[in-house]
Amino acid sequence: MDYLQIQGPTRLSGEVRISGAKNAALPIIAMMLLAKNRVEIDNMPEVVDIKTLLKLIENLGGNFALEDNHLSIETHKITNTKATYDIVKTMRASILVLGPLLARFGHCEVSLPGGCAIGQRPIDLHLKALEQMGASISIHAGYVQAVAEDGLKGAEIIFDKITVTGTANIVMAAALAKGKSTLINCAREPEVVQLCEVLRDSGVSIEGIGTSQLTIYGTDRRLIEIEPFSVIPDRIEAGTYLCAGAITKSTMSITNANPHHLSAVITKLEEMGCTFDITEDRIEIRPTEFIKNVNIITQEYPAFPTDLQAQFLALSTQADSTSSIEERLFENRFMHVSELQRLGADIKISGNTALVAGESELFGADVMATDLRASSALILAALVAKGETNIHRIYHLDRGYERLEEKFISLGANIKRLKE
Ligand code: EPZ
Repeated sequence: MDYLQIQGPTRLSGEVRISGAKNAALPIIAMMLLAKNRVEIDNMPEVVDIKTLLKLIENLGGNFALEDNHLSIETHKITNTKATYDIVKTMRASILVLGPLLARFGHCEVSLPGGCAIGQRPIDLHLKALEQMGASISIHAGYVQAVAEDGLKGAEIIFDKITVTGTANIVMAAALAKGKSTLINCAREPEVVQLCEVLRDSGVSIEGIGTSQLTIYGTDRRLIEIEPFSVIPDRIEAGTYLCAGAITKSTMSITNANPHHLSAVITKLEEMGCTFDITEDRIEIRPTEFIKNVNIITQEYPAFPTDLQAQFLALSTQADSTSSIEERLFENRFMHVSELQRLGADIKISGNTALVAGESELFGADVMATDLRASSALILAALVAKGETNIHRIYHLDRGYERLEEKFISLGANIKRLKE
């Protein structure tokens, strides 16, 4: 296995280009199951999770070519509707094929995703909504078996909780259903917005895009023609690099970003003392020598994103006093804390809130990545820790950060990818 070796402390400079958003690309790839044509997509991030879902689509009978961040994909020859455990167990977002497969074929079997490091992450809301659309759902031998032989029917769906992939799954199911669906309490993340926009541009009638209530008029199983488009920039990758500038007190820039998707994040960094020069697709961060402490509560978009909680927790170790970080979406998303403590951070967990002491002098050590975003928090801490830090199990990072060490090296970081 690979590990990252980072020498700190370090300053950064220059600029990095933000890649396409993994969490937009995943539902988009599942949506290809609704297309009758070969679809051309640009700014596709070449990260492990994307390759995993593409392999699943290939196993179903689709085919694709992914090169230089361009994906060319077609699924009209698909006959197999079983998403098997061997792939789904490696990437829970595979559940995104459930809605499209069921809507198009009237039946499918999708392996239950199983547990996840950051929390139990059930899919009950996905299944309940599909049943309301006329599907018969049963769980057998670790698989979701879904049947709707006459196709899905439009329905009024109220999500008990805001769920990002749940909203995406049901939007795709409703797109091919017969009649009108009204979805209430939807996720409003930019990644869900792009999915809806591509469907709308492909002739599916959708009202309320960007709001928590969507009205979708299904095509009654008629496949759609999807024109070429580009994946939106990854706001979580962008936020991660902004935190790198803030924690190393470096002036640096990110390009190909969408500042509108980062309002809550930029506001928090301003609260901590950073200033910015922002244009349409470029953000320059000007850090502060004295980082102010901060209080953060993670909530659904457009509030502060849970996927940047770990990164801000690492940044808070360098603030002038104690910060409070409350994780409201997942029940076990503080695994980076024990690793940060190995670097010298002083953090106390009480329930789902972390109290992070400021002015922590960090020292390099061996640490272990536990999940995708926690791993990026360890890199941020390693950039300011005195001495050598080795971050192990970085396959977690490769799931969602494209060319990570290449980008950090271009910013001046002393970082190497080595073999255990
Ligand atoms: C998406 O996960 C993202 N993944 C996650 O990013 C992100 O952390 C999360 O949304 C929250 O923003 C992708 O988009 C591929 P949820 P998702 O359904 O859709 C509960 C990353 O690092 N819930 O919005 O799985 C659930 O337990 C990943 O890129 C149910 O109870 O998250 C959680 O507490 C990590 N029943 C809350 O809702 C359900 O049926 C939000 O989950 C579904 C969800």
